[in-house]
Amino acid sequence: MVNAVVLEAVNEQINNELVSSYTYLAMSATCTAQHFHGFAKWLRIQSTEEYGHAMKLFDFVLNRGGAVKLNAIGEPKVKFKTMQEIFEAALAQEQAVTKRIDALYELAQKEKAFSLMVELQWFLTEQVEEEKSARDIVAKFNLIKNDPVALLELDREMGSRGPEK
Ligand code: FEO
Repeated sequence: MVNAVVLEAVNEQINNELVSSYTYLAMSATCTAQHFHGFAKWLRIQSTEEYGHAMKLFDFVLNRGGAVKLNAIGEPKVKFKTMQEIFEAALAQEQAVTKRIDALYELAQKEKAFSLMVELQWFLTEQVEEEKSARDIVAKFNLIKNDPVALLELDREMGSRGPEK
């Protein structure tokens, strides 16, 4: 049995992960439209990862005999002035997700939802990695500034990303 308060919070997190997936997908389309195919590929893989995060929690709820509730997903932002702005938004999004995972973990602890605490350990570790990746990319954009050659090189480098195992 899943406690109702915990169940609602996990369903909210499923929505948060799907919102992330949708946002990354919109960012990817924006990059493709501007001919930055490497950034687009990286963001599209990230979108798939976020979908995977949602599905982990989706399966968790079902495996615990809970009811999945899929909430509405709003329209993501698609207009960005620069590539840098996209990745700054990605970093901010990851930081926000980390806060939500931390809050969910705190709730699980308070409600003695031990199986959820174990499930969320994977997410806590994942967020460290996701924030680091986004922070590293933003740092590179800060170094590049307005150098088009360096920007194209970063686009090429990020296009070599393969799907996570
Ligand atoms: Fe699922 Fe990037 O947080």
